[in-house]
Amino acid sequence: MIKIAPSILAADLLNLQKEVSEVDRAGADYIHIDVMDGNYVPNITFGPDIVKKLRTITNKILDVHLMINPVSKFIEDFVNSGADIISFHPETEKNVNKTIQKIKDLNCKCGLAIHPDVRITDIKQYLNLVDLVIVMTVVPGFGGQKFQIEQIDKISELKKIKSIKNLNFEIEVDGGINNDTAKLCIDKGADILVAGTYIFNKPCEEYKNLIHSLK
Ligand code: DX5
Ligand code: ZN
Repeated sequence: MIKIAPSILAADLLNLQKEVSEVDRAGADYIHIDVMDGNYVPNITFGPDIVKKLRTITNKILDVHLMINPVSKFIEDFVNSGADIISFHPETEKNVNKTIQKIKDLNCKCGLAIHPDVRITDIKQYLNLVDLVIVMTVVPGFGGQKFQIEQIDKISELKKIKSIKNLNFEIEVDGGINNDTAKLCIDKGADILVAGTYIFNKPCEEYKNLIHSLK
């Protein structure tokens, strides 16, 4: 069964506690938290303190997507705040192996996020080390962008490597997910779908149906 990870980037931030509780109740599997630093991406969002606060109001998996450069000096802060999975973009770190190991040594799950310009061959060497791979179907930085359909072959490519090498990572798709694009990703073999605008731009009474419509 496909899992849904609402992205709080599109939530009503003045009512973040309510928004997260509502998607939790509506059947979200993960809560996706987009961390942006104004350096790796041209936008600034949340830090470890937000993760810490969210940890007190939900038991759902806190799926932290770091769009920051550098990554390594902030890992402990996010783990201590209660992140369950920390993903980063490999081009932001000189020593990707070391950063993966650092996350895992702190008993946290680790993911790699793939920018649309990064190819699977560029990250293939790390796939046996990670728990999650995020296929980005928009350029990281903003919600509400158009789904880049040409990225979805990366999902099947990953799926193939996974079965040939008998690996365990999950495949998450992030960016421009709605009920049409969700179907394309599921057909290719996605395990988790991130959805920001599609869910949070509607009234909270609809969250349950919206989440259901992505499955
Ligand atoms: C973009 C973020 C996404 C974003 C998705 O940099 O990584 O997680 O929140 O938003 P939508 O679903 O609106 O494309
Ligand atoms: Zn994201």
